[in-house]
Amino acid sequence: MKRPRNIVILTGAGISAESGIDTFRGGGGLWEQHRVEDVATPEAFASDPDLVLRFYDMRREAIQTRQPNPAHLALARLDREWPKQAGGEVLIVTQNVDDLHERGGALNVLHMHGEHLTAWCTACDRRHRWTGPLIHRPPCPSCSEPALRPDIVWFGEIPYRMDEIYEALSAADLFVSIGTSGAVYPAAGLVRTARDLGLRTLELNLERSQGSAWFHETRLGPASEVVPAWVDDLLD
Ligand code: OAD
Repeated sequence: MKRPRNIVILTGAGISAESGIDTFRGGGGLWEQHRVEDVATPEAFASDPDLVLRFYDMRREAIQTRQPNPAHLALARLDREWPKQAGGEVLIVTQNVDDLHERGGALNVLHMHGEHLTAWCTACDRRHRWTGPLIHRPPCPSCSEPALRPDIVWFGEIPYRMDEIYEALSAADLFVSIGTSGAVYPAAGLVRTARDLGLRTLELNLERSQGSAWFHETRLGPASEVVPAWVDDLLD
């Protein structure tokens, strides 16, 4: 295979599973414990804000006790070393709302589904770093209104920064998908866009994703093993 220059990497819940953060689907997944419609839609927030805020307060608290695993660390190493070694760029597009890529040392991370550690003011539209709870309706640091909500893209809302993602794909040679089931669009459709644009496509996952047929290559195994091995291959 020709050596790639620019790489777009899509990550999902599977990359954080070995850090102790539940995935969404499959046995024991978050959506088996909670109904999506009860906690992850604008309608749920309108009808029972306390339930939704409490759900995200618990998750925000929990992720701060988790640590990056070897897969996050390997991607951070790639992110730092690839520009020097290959003169290319790496963009990590994550569906995850934890901050384990950043805490692992990655620099170029785009959170298309939002982040636990920011709060979004629905009154003034500003975002603020937020590590504590929202259940007691704290005032927005900018406008003082008690109108902060989790900065999470709920079902029925539009993921963030899609233009930047498509722009990065059109300048890339390689698309790699890691630890995602391929069940949620538009993230799940990025592999087809990548194929249409002529990129090489690689999937690293515990099991084949729903869009597996779109990948030129699939490597199966736990992220903490397959991701560092792939990064080692690429950087050698
Ligand atoms: P899913 O829970 O749908 O899929 C997780 C994937 O990770 C599955 O394919 C698992 O096989 C795989 N996996 C599990 N453990 C793994 C491990 N140790 N190593 C590698 N792979 C592993 O999670 P996502 O695809 O990220 O959206 O879900 C996409 C979106 O659905 C999420 O961003 C979230 C959710 O609803 C929002 O909250 C907006």
